[in-house]
Amino acid sequence: MEKTDEQFESLQRADRIVYPTAETKAAAYIQDYEAEYGRSIADPEAFWSGVAKELHWFSPWTKVLEWTYPWAKWFVGATCNITYNCLDRHVKTWRKNKVAVIWVGEQGEERVFTYGELFRQVNRCANALKALGLRTGDRVTIYLPKIPEQIVAMLACARIGAIHSVVYSGFSAPALESRIQDAESRVVITADVGYDRGKRIDLKSVVDQAVANCGTVETVVVVRREKPEIALAAPKEVDWENWLEGEQASCEAEPLDAEAPLYILYTSGTTGKPKGVVHVHGGYMVGTYITTKYVFDLKDEDVYFCVADPGWVTGHSYIVYGPLLNGATILTAEGKPDYPNPGRWWRLIERYGVSIFYTTPTAIRLLMKYGEEWPKKYDLSGLRILGSVGEPINPEAWEWYHRVTGGTKPIMDTWWQTETGMILVTPLPCVPLKPGSATRPFLGVEADVVDREGHSVPANAGGFAVIKKPWPAMMRTIYKDPDRYQVYWNTIPHCYTAGDVCRKDEQGYLWFMGRADDVIKVAGNRIGTAEVESALVSHPAVAEAAVIGKPHQTAGEAIKAFVILKQGQPEGRDLIQALKDHVLKELGKIAVPREIEVVPSLPKTRSGKIMRRVLKAKELGQDPGDISTLEE
Ligand code: WTA
Repeated sequence: MEKTDEQFESLQRADRIVYPTAETKAAAYIQDYEAEYGRSIADPEAFWSGVAKELHWFSPWTKVLEWTYPWAKWFVGATCNITYNCLDRHVKTWRKNKVAVIWVGEQGEERVFTYGELFRQVNRCANALKALGLRTGDRVTIYLPKIPEQIVAMLACARIGAIHSVVYSGFSAPALESRIQDAESRVVITADVGYDRGKRIDLKSVVDQAVANCGTVETVVVVRREKPEIALAAPKEVDWENWLEGEQASCEAEPLDAEAPLYILYTSGTTGKPKGVVHVHGGYMVGTYITTKYVFDLKDEDVYFCVADPGWVTGHSYIVYGPLLNGATILTAEGKPDYPNPGRWWRLIERYGVSIFYTTPTAIRLLMKYGEEWPKKYDLSGLRILGSVGEPINPEAWEWYHRVTGGTKPIMDTWWQTETGMILVTPLPCVPLKPGSATRPFLGVEADVVDREGHSVPANAGGFAVIKKPWPAMMRTIYKDPDRYQVYWNTIPHCYTAGDVCRKDEQGYLWFMGRADDVIKVAGNRIGTAEVESALVSHPAVAEAAVIGKPHQTAGEAIKAFVILKQGQPEGRDLIQALKDHVLKELGKIAVPREIEVVPSLPKTRSGKIMRRVLKAKELGQDPGDISTLEE
């Protein structure tokens, strides 16, 4: 077949299948993926409404799905409230005194909330919001460090039907300002300080700067963590504790239309201003509930630890909503994986008996750099299910993660996006794993790899990752920008285009190859960034790698690689040649970088994704576009 402009070259091949242990399989909710998947896809509406019936609704739907391409409504006509299902449903049972959240601060502090206590706190906060005159549909910006008040504030907004916009507390004043302005928030909830590897971060001044230009903000609520307490300017600025004091610990959850917006979460576009992704109460609740339950095989006995920050979507879906919907015990920890030392997370896993651990490839590669002696110091035998999210997990990192946690715990490599709301492509514990592949679509989800016209490409050919049917947790729009929403469904006709390139192997396993925007075109071959980076990282000297395309006279583009070396690795021309030889052996000539530069760090988003466009702009002396999500 002749190669067209739209084909992608996939050079990587799997060499290992990891089967679930008898123990994992015996425990799993889903025993036979193929059969369940087949059933779910034969009638997705029946599948999703079956799931929805496991949750509480104030009044039932008349229609499961109303699909007016590209606009979806799920559970049409029903009323519900996601917090009723996160809280009330549990406090009416024995779970009332079950631990909901264990929080560990960067300084080692510990706070524990039972479901009953979380319920009361949320209700007080909901009443306090009402006392400010907030009503259904009003927006609240939450700019808090990773402390329990962040969770309380989110749930309190949702309880009264206010829409929360959580902004990660590492963002600068201009980034915060534009997000408050776009949302037209009436209230901002913040703290005096956050901590980052022991460093104090003055959040209140950032808010002061941002709010100075935001006319809609009536009230700024401040959690004061430090003594002596910082001064607040009444009546606009109020102290969190005083604000809640005297409020009743009961506040009925507002019965909301299933399509009522739950939150706006801003995600960076490649260029231009951030997009306010809108999720709703009903469908999002159903999607996050069931994915948390089945992917992590979540049971009442588990202690579930997700290292994300609620400032990004993984925190929304898989620290707060999904686990609480399931009545789980959640461990959440402020701070970085290597502070005060690289044993931080392993120690927490031992200390709190964590059984489910959900992290990111970038964190794993960071921990790999420090070596296996750190995880070896701790008893990790309580773990039973592992997770990964955020980027393709390169097989090297996969194997390390698998090995240091005992060699038998399955890794759920979960692929999804802010826009998708829930995990869409992922193994379930019963599914045989191929390190580096996110494996198969979740139940009820039809994923494929297609060309620009929407035709499926043959096995192992690269193409665009798409979802062919609506799913309940999908975003409903981009806030105040419906045109930008439609692009997701119009780029390839009748498909949701994720913007990722991917290949599907003979067994239907999906291998994500990076963002379509980052694809490099070498002599007519379109190469995804992930494979080349993965090949580089599989060399023993390399800790991290990023590749970009640079204009090249004859080849169109040439690959340039940036690599971070492992501790104590000598630099030099021999090493560069060795790396090129290594990529040649792993992937073939076409993928060998023309240039390799050793760097001390790589530009990353605050959620740990490498920003290749920033590297590229810098390399080519161009404007990098929106860099508000850039960490440092
Ligand atoms: C990438 C994070 C490969 C992908 C939940 C996607 C992944 C983008 C994976 C969304 C994975 C996330 N394998 N790639 N398991 N998980 N991605 O919106 O490029 O922060 O489009 O959502 O991350 O990033 P976002």
